[in-house]
Amino acid sequence: MLKGIAGRTALITGAAGGIGSATARRLHAEGANIVAVDRDADGLDALVAELGDRALAVPADVTSADDTAMFFQRAVDTFETVDMFFANAGVESKVLPLASFDLDDFEKVFAVNVRGPFLGAAEAVRTMMSQPDRGKIVFTASIAGLKGDPGVSVYVASKHAVIGLARSLMKETGPLGIRVNVVAPGPVDTRMMRPLEEGLAALMGTDAAGFQAALSTAIPLARYAEADEIAATAAWLLSDEVPYMHGEIVTVGGGLYP
Ligand SMILES: NC(=O)c1ccc[n+]([C@@H]2O[C@H](COP(=O)([O-])OP(=O)(O)OC[C@H]3O[C@@H](n4cnc5c(N)ncnc54)[C@H](O)[C@@H]3O)[C@@H](O)[C@H]2O)c1
Repeated sequence: MLKGIAGRTALITGAAGGIGSATARRLHAEGANIVAVDRDADGLDALVAELGDRALAVPADVTSADDTAMFFQRAVDTFETVDMFFANAGVESKVLPLASFDLDDFEKVFAVNVRGPFLGAAEAVRTMMSQPDRGKIVFTASIAGLKGDPGVSVYVASKHAVIGLARSLMKETGPLGIRVNVVAPGPVDTRMMRPLEEGLAALMGTDAAGFQAALSTAIPLARYAEADEIAATAAWLLSDEVPYMHGEIVTVGGGLYP
């Protein structure tokens, strides 16, 4: 068991998705109360039914300041504290050369991937400052937050922004006792990879299976990650096992980066 998780409360955004639901399962198995937030209400219901007790579904949109205040309040009303905040909800961008940009796609991706974690982190700090034990925050960025790739400039820019946000926040909150870290996955076998595979394959003149095979070959471990492998890292960063890890960008990419 990981230290410091049992009996505490984790609020997870994107909890109906691949990495978010895997992290909810992992933290719940470690004894945490789970507040599961996503705009996919059916997905949340299925997750909470599976987890059983100590789990609350809160359908919400992370791009809304009102929703964000609401889901933190629901968490505190139900479980009294928010000790772990996993800012994980995210969306992929369209695959397009930058010069052929789609401004609606840009606005959508930045709203979910940057405005969402920004609003969530602000509310998490306000909540944790009223708690004697403070808390921990983990953001899901990506290896796309550390390097560029053709066709995905919008997604890449949004994940660089998440890392910049975390790097500034950790300097503010370290002295206050709130640890902040980032998990930066490489390709993970979730829903999100399917449209990216389609789009990137078209850009490279191949098909999705051909793209997936080429990408897997470029990864030293020769495969995508499973969502629970990212969940294991997020849970570790949110636990008391690593009290001196703060402001770290932890890549989980099977060797893809650097
Ligand atoms: N899958 C990968 O290869 C990969 C790699 C690196 C980073 N990531 C990041 O991991 C995180 C989780 O992605 P995933 O792979 O589990 O994908 P996913 O699509 O399975 O999960 C994302 C979840 O976020 C939710 N969501 C989207 N917009 C929302 C909003 N406005 N409000 C509330 N919820 C919203 C979706 O409903 C979905 O359940 C994302 O931030 C993603 O960018 C994924």
